[in-house]
Amino acid sequence: MASSLAVFFVGLFLVLTGEVIAMVNMNEDELVGLFDVMDSLLDYSNWAKQYPLPCTDTPWPGVECEISLDNFPTFHITKLHIGPDVIDPPCKNSANLSDSLLKLPYLKTLSIFNCFVSSSSPVNLSPTVFGSLTSLEHLALASNPSLSGEIPSALSNIVSLRVLSLPQNSLYGKIPRELGRLVSLQQLDLSYNNFSGEIPEEIGGLKSLSILDLSWNNLEGVVHCALGMLKLLQKIDLSSNKFNGSLPPDLGKLNKLVLLDLSHNFINGPIPETFSGLENLQYLIVDHNPIHSTIPFFVGTLKSLTSISFSGCGLTGRIPSYISSLNTLTALSLDNNSLSGSVPPSLGSLPSLHQLNLSNNQLSGELQLPEEFIDRLGKRLDVKGNPGLCTSDYKLHMKKNISMLYLQIPPCLEKQIIIGDHDNNNNNNRTFQNHPDDTNAQWLLVINQKLLSSTIVLCWVIIILL
Ligand SMILES: *[C@@H]1O[C@H](CO)[C@@H](O)[C@H](O)[C@H]1NC(C)=O
Ligand SMILES: *[C@@H]1O[C@H](CO)[C@@H](O)[C@H](O)[C@H]1NC(C)=O
Ligand SMILES: *[C@@H]1O[C@H](CO)[C@@H](O)[C@H](O)[C@H]1NC(C)=O
Ligand SMILES: *[C@@H]1O[C@H](CO)[C@@H](O)[C@H](O)[C@H]1NC(C)=O
Ligand SMILES: *[C@@H]1O[C@H](CO)[C@@H](O)[C@H](O)[C@H]1NC(C)=O
Ligand SMILES: *[C@@H]1O[C@H](CO)[C@@H](O)[C@H](O)[C@H]1NC(C)=O
Ligand SMILES: *[C@@H]1O[C@H](CO)[C@@H](O)[C@H](O)[C@H]1NC(C)=O
Repeated sequence: MASSLAVFFVGLFLVLTGEVIAMVNMNEDELVGLFDVMDSLLDYSNWAKQYPLPCTDTPWPGVECEISLDNFPTFHITKLHIGPDVIDPPCKNSANLSDSLLKLPYLKTLSIFNCFVSSSSPVNLSPTVFGSLTSLEHLALASNPSLSGEIPSALSNIVSLRVLSLPQNSLYGKIPRELGRLVSLQQLDLSYNNFSGEIPEEIGGLKSLSILDLSWNNLEGVVHCALGMLKLLQKIDLSSNKFNGSLPPDLGKLNKLVLLDLSHNFINGPIPETFSGLENLQYLIVDHNPIHSTIPFFVGTLKSLTSISFSGCGLTGRIPSYISSLNTLTALSLDNNSLSGSVPPSLGSLPSLHQLNLSNNQLSGELQLPEEFIDRLGKRLDVKGNPGLCTSDYKLHMKKNISMLYLQIPPCLEKQIIIGDHDNNNNNNRTFQNHPDDTNAQWLLVINQKLLSSTIVLCWVIIILL
């Protein structure tokens, strides 16, 4: 009884909403605007005939509408999305952004992917259009090689904007200072373009920003201290630009930051110790910058770190053993630096570490990592190119599997006994070759000697016992 009543009410509701929807009008101007915009994008002259009522009877997957109840109920177009997921091929060769976008004043989302591709018809961001779409919350124009020109400063009129995502286009020029007025902006992605100049101070106005991606551009100058004001930032990617100078201590205030990628720039060290405030940092990627300092202290205090990468940073000094207190660490890359001293054996007790690259440094002494650790990492343990490094674990050398050969380091004390030669230029003789059949007579001698000495010890023990 109850369930049949429920079915009846649901049925009634559907009939009623169906009727209501049929009664709701669409603004004629908006509809014409949509047809113009589609016509400028798609090679589909019949679009208007095929989808005359895109909000009701003839929906199209890339268009969404909402009913507004301002005066009388009216449908408005609130989302326009073009991409290979909606139509393939998505756009015509001479696709363009029609000024008729201005007739869609209720548009909240405009996303166009992989559409403007023909170099013979470049497309620009018109200040008239993008200064006026003031309902827009989400603007994503990505992977459009012929979308070029500058970001119009009028874009900063769209104060409702939450997402500005313009990666992989051919945009250039400076990041407009006026963008700092976008107080609701949560994501700013300008990666893989050709933007130049400096990060404007006004970026400090983007109070809601949680994602900032400026990677793969031509940006220069110092990393602006105003970034330290953006307390909600979780991701900063400034990689592959031309940033130089020192990092601002203010960045250390970003206690929500999870990812910081500064790789491939010209940033000088030392990195400020205020970075110990980045208590949620998981990814610290600094590769290929002229840091030229020792490994910073603060690294040992960031207990959330899972990945640390300082390849090619000119680091000097020793590998501090406090790195071994970072229990969540999964990857550590310190390769291609000038680190000296020994490899802290405690690194081998990091429970989650599965990638350790210490190659191309000046590390020396005996490598004392647990066998279990060496087996676990296999090829992902790289200690090549450290001429002073050796191992006395001859068992390791007998295990002729790949992980052992990958270590490519010679035996320790034994080399002096066998080779009897301290000439450091004679490195070739001290490095294992990468071929499993390269049986090295030296090792066998070493092993024999070891076996011999332990046999002697054993004999003495037996004699004493007797
Ligand atoms: C694209 O549209 C703009 C105006 O919206 C116009 O000035 C430009 O010439 C058009 N480009 C092409 C290639 O049609
Ligand atoms: C990027 O911009 C610079 C000037 O800032 C220019 O020299 C360079 O040719 C541009 N690169 C591309 C791929 O457009
Ligand atoms: C950083 O680069 C700019 C040019 O891009 C230069 O004027 C400035 O002197 C450089 N600063 C440092 C500290 O190297
Ligand atoms: C090592 O770092 C230097 C810069 O410090 C760089 O020029 C070189 O390409 C790097 N080598 C490797 C193998 O990454
Ligand atoms: C370690 O870093 C060097 C560059 O310094 C690179 O050539 C090598 O492939 C890396 N090893 C591993 C295992 O990733
Ligand atoms: C190397 O040999 C050990 C046992 O001797 C084995 O546990 C390990 O999995 C082997 N590693 C590789 C990469 O084959
Ligand atoms: C290796 O050492 C042997 C003698 O111990 C010497 O004859 C040989 O020339 C050395 N090889 C290289 C490449 O230095």
